[in-house]
Amino acid sequence: MNLSLKKSNQANKSDHLVFLATDIDSIDKKVFNKAELEYVRKEARKKSRLIAVNKYSRTILISLVDANGKEEYKNLEAFRRAGDSVASALNRIKASSVSIVTKEGMRHVAAFAEGLTLGNYQFLKYKSEPDHNSLKRANFIGPHVTASELAEISHVCESVCMARDLVNEPVISLNATDLANAFKSMGKSAGFKVTVFDKAKIKSMKMGGLLAVNMGSPDPPTFTVMEWKPAKHINQKPIVLVGKGVVYDTGGLSLKPTPGSMDYMKCDMAGAAAVGCAMYGIAKSKMPVHVIALVPATDNRPDGNAYTPGDVITMMSGLKVEVLNTDAEGRMILADALHYAKQYKPELVMEFSTLTGAAAAAIGGYGIVAMGTADDATKKDLHKSGEMVYERLAEFPFWDEYDELIKSDIADIKNIGGPMAGAITAGRFLKKFTDYPYMHFDIAGPAFGKGNDSYRGKNGTGIGVRLILDYIKRRASN
Ligand code: BES
Ligand code: MN
Ligand code: ZN
Repeated sequence: MNLSLKKSNQANKSDHLVFLATDIDSIDKKVFNKAELEYVRKEARKKSRLIAVNKYSRTILISLVDANGKEEYKNLEAFRRAGDSVASALNRIKASSVSIVTKEGMRHVAAFAEGLTLGNYQFLKYKSEPDHNSLKRANFIGPHVTASELAEISHVCESVCMARDLVNEPVISLNATDLANAFKSMGKSAGFKVTVFDKAKIKSMKMGGLLAVNMGSPDPPTFTVMEWKPAKHINQKPIVLVGKGVVYDTGGLSLKPTPGSMDYMKCDMAGAAAVGCAMYGIAKSKMPVHVIALVPATDNRPDGNAYTPGDVITMMSGLKVEVLNTDAEGRMILADALHYAKQYKPELVMEFSTLTGAAAAAIGGYGIVAMGTADDATKKDLHKSGEMVYERLAEFPFWDEYDELIKSDIADIKNIGGPMAGAITAGRFLKKFTDYPYMHFDIAGPAFGKGNDSYRGKNGTGIGVRLILDYIKRRASN
């Protein structure tokens, strides 16, 4: 989607138009004749939120947004959802371009543009006769949004859509090497540094967790290090992002029980997609913050040489892990990445993973399960970002006592914690490999949409990208 700002105050006479408003009184009624105006008023009384007036050569849409609430973040979300509805309406009438007339505050118009752009996303690569959305351009008129805000929103949406593309790509065409290559090309186009460790290098670094999960795979693992370090950066110590890159999760020898539970496990690299694509957005927007992203990647499959329940694995940190379920593979590969992150003495590590069914079961797809050891001020900022981008955080307890559940009889720890508090014991497992302020974000619930949730769409949602971008932007202005 091309988002642009019209210099002239006048929309092109032949353009489809959208009037964006919170109430019917504030819109310009000069373009309507008497009968049309009567129709508009009648629809507004019926509480229609989207009113279409067919002017033959063009359509005028009135998008009325319920955004007079006290909580600003809910108003923002209402504008995003309105953007999605408008995109659908415009695609229904095969419109390719639209002019948007606004009377609202700036943040709101940017949020509308965001909903419009994200709602217009499609994954059509594997359709022989793709039914492309017609909508390609949105011109914003009026002084309520700036060109730089639109440019920023474009970068955000581009990053989210890239993450969706990666999540939607099946493992047959996106193995660990392909994922690393995707990051390389993103680094090239946005200007951040990308280094990929191959299997030999991973072996030499003794990344035991990543190597163990990879043992059942015919494809080699990768470990990708991405870095954005602009000449001027406001942080002395970097922020490190870590993403789970399980390009497919069968469960390994502890095979996932059919039916259905494996169908969408191509999404198990959604954390990796979130951190890599956030790097893309950070670099594109040239944010003055030093950020590093780490992605350990492999698939998790059963095979002759696959790691087994009962195996004891020596991790990169030296800690010995008794594997009691090969389906708890995410924590095995993330542990090595978290240990690797120690060398940077980071101010904060944010790790994103589709880690546990327990997190999804606890809060569904409506938010992100979060927990960790960062200080209260950092957590408050993260919550704020979560609300502003509507990727809300549900913070879980992170009490020391949970460690009792991952004690092993024969090794230092085991990789499962039993039936209780599954999301938390996974987080506590990971904490063992950190020595810095650490936040764990379990996105198993919202990573992959099975319904059609407004601008989030179906399938890969790109969750996490907007949260990271907003947080880094917030950090830059602190
Ligand atoms: N990738 C799964 C978690 C998952 C579940 C992601 C549903 C997306 C949707 C993870 O590797 C896993 O299998 N977790 C196990 C852990 C258990 C064996 C301790 C789970 O949640 O069942
Ligand atoms: Mn698993
Ligand atoms: Zn998994």
